[in-house]
Amino acid sequence: MNKLYLWGLIITAAMLGATYATVGYQKGGLNGDIVNMLAIAGAVALVIITIFVVIKYVRQMQTDTATGELADESWDNIGEYKNPVPFGWAIIFLGTMIWGMWYFLVGYPVNAFSQIGQYNEEVAEKTAQFEKKYANVKGDQLVNMGESVYLVECVACHGLNADGNGEIDAADLNQRISEKSVKYAVIHGLTGKLLGTESAMPDRSGLMNANNNYAPITDTEIDAVAKYVADGFKDKNSAGAKVFAGTCVMCHGANGEGVAGMAPQINAWNSQLVVNVLDYGKVGTIGKMPIMDRLNPKQKEAIAAYVMSLSKGE
Ligand code: HEC
Ligand code: HEC
Repeated sequence: MNKLYLWGLIITAAMLGATYATVGYQKGGLNGDIVNMLAIAGAVALVIITIFVVIKYVRQMQTDTATGELADESWDNIGEYKNPVPFGWAIIFLGTMIWGMWYFLVGYPVNAFSQIGQYNEEVAEKTAQFEKKYANVKGDQLVNMGESVYLVECVACHGLNADGNGEIDAADLNQRISEKSVKYAVIHGLTGKLLGTESAMPDRSGLMNANNNYAPITDTEIDAVAKYVADGFKDKNSAGAKVFAGTCVMCHGANGEGVAGMAPQINAWNSQLVVNVLDYGKVGTIGKMPIMDRLNPKQKEAIAAYVMSLSKGE
């Protein structure tokens, strides 16, 4: 028998064996399972057809000789047969090109319906309606709106009393900042976006000590300044006040009111600061405050008013 056919038979047998080993030989085997039997029958048919189609073409390649009319050109005596594209193929080829251009320019990619697009359009529309309807909300009403957004979006972490469940889950919003957060910022530095752009506070090795010389700030000084800042800059005669005046004022201002483009306000909340925290999140010693930029501008303004109202009159 021809060697090719022999190989065909061997490969067929091997593939059928492998198929049987993976499907038929399992627990229960093919017994009575009609779906398994059909799948196997299909596999057998596919294997046999594939092998013999391959054999047919291999044999054809072995025996075929070229015929037809040679083209005029000859490259170093290597000629080329005239081999015109069949008319039907040419039509399909041209048609596909035309359709492709249509599809690219006016068809699906540019003009199609898009679910994300629809969602974005509807959100933009509702936001515009919301902004228009509540444009004039001010004062207490704004604080109330902020509280209702707070109850939906923030209460899970910041707690019903807005104290972050004792600063275990989140920051206590009844004060601008707690002692432990100040200490953390001074010791480790901070590289967030409290100013709305990348802003960096140096860590302790980059801060001068209270005497304003270039020896780094000491542990005692850090404790003192953290207390002073967290207490709201009240005790102007304290050791902390002295450290602040020597080490922090040039960035944060005399009373921690912040310096534009330099360092954030740390003696009280302001609207922009809260909005920046919502837009960019914050990572600190308590944990990670998530980005909340899906709120619309009016909601952010309202939340800021609410947060500012929490620490009033302390
Ligand atoms: C070189 C300027 C610079 C100096 C000096 C500096 N800070 Fe800062 N501080 C910053 C910047 C900038 C940020 C904001 C970092 C951010 O966006 O994450 C910041 C953030 C803070 C925060 C965090 C506020 C928050 O909401 O979490 C505290 C607290 C703070 N600084 C306290 C201090 C104290 C106390 C000192 C002095 C011991 C001091 N800083 C010295 C630039 C400075
Ligand atoms: C998944 C929990 C979580 C949610 C939800 C959350 N926060 Fe926070 N938030 C935190 C944590 C944690 C911190 C403390 C970050 C740190 O260690 O300084 C924080 C800090 C803050 C701070 C203080 C940032 C600073 O400068 O110290 C503000 C303001 C704040 N959140 C406002 C909000 C508002 C408003 C909402 C609702 C729109 C909200 N957070 C929702 C976890 C959360």
